[in-house]
Amino acid sequence: MQIFTFIFAAFPVLALAAIGDTCTHSLGTGTCKLTTSCAGYTVSGACPNDPSNVKCCTIKSCSTSAGTGTCKNTSTACSGTYYSGACPGDSSIQCCVAGSTPPPSGNTGAAVLAAAKTQTGVPYSWGGGNCNGKSLGIEQGANTVGFDCSGLTQYAVCQATGKSVVIPRTTRGQYAVGKRIPLAQRQIGDLIYYATGGDCSCSNGYCAALYHTAIWAGNNQMFEAQKTGTTLGLHTYRTGTDICPYVIRHW
Ligand SMILES: *[C@@H]1O[C@H](CO)[C@@H](O)[C@H](O)[C@H]1NC(C)=O
Repeated sequence: MQIFTFIFAAFPVLALAAIGDTCTHSLGTGTCKLTTSCAGYTVSGACPNDPSNVKCCTIKSCSTSAGTGTCKNTSTACSGTYYSGACPGDSSIQCCVAGSTPPPSGNTGAAVLAAAKTQTGVPYSWGGGNCNGKSLGIEQGANTVGFDCSGLTQYAVCQATGKSVVIPRTTRGQYAVGKRIPLAQRQIGDLIYYATGGDCSCSNGYCAALYHTAIWAGNNQMFEAQKTGTTLGLHTYRTGTDICPYVIRHW
């Protein structure tokens, strides 16, 4: 009698309840599924019984310069190309874009954008950020670990080039170096600059009226550390009289 009670009470909980249940984890929400039938990515430890073949399957769409796709674990097949920087979690979860061709090897621009995107959600901090990552700022950023606009761009270029290119720390210094590309010919990863009144002139490596920089992300978007009180992320591309006539390709 006791054995029957045990089987009826415990068997469904331990073996059957897992499949089909909603599950949540740090990288999203999903449904507990057999790993072999998951069209997205699976995460361990989020399903009630979590046997090795049943995991939390999360379907999340992602957007890249090559188009939209689905976040998947790169250890599974993608009938297209994997792109980094567009999905949550570590680098094993990437955006599978069907039918696309990979970016040319040595695509530093894509790497600049991808490096910046790893900092999505980090707070803006005036004076914060450097080649190695976020840091405590100064003045209004004195209590915040994060990045300001040029701290972020210095970080992204550093990381994308294996620290072989370390650009000046401020927008006023950054616009004076690197390759100048007409704004209309910008490519992913090129840095956009803004100056008061559109005065983008420089003298002795110093461009006095420059005040902001952002990373061109394609699709009418740019990735930036915008201002105190915001977090880093993708925003609609802003034009206007302050935008400088060139983007800078810093590699
Ligand atoms: C992706 O798959 C590999 C191999 O199965 C695994 O080690 C890794 O943890 C997975 N990534 C995530 C974020 O679950």
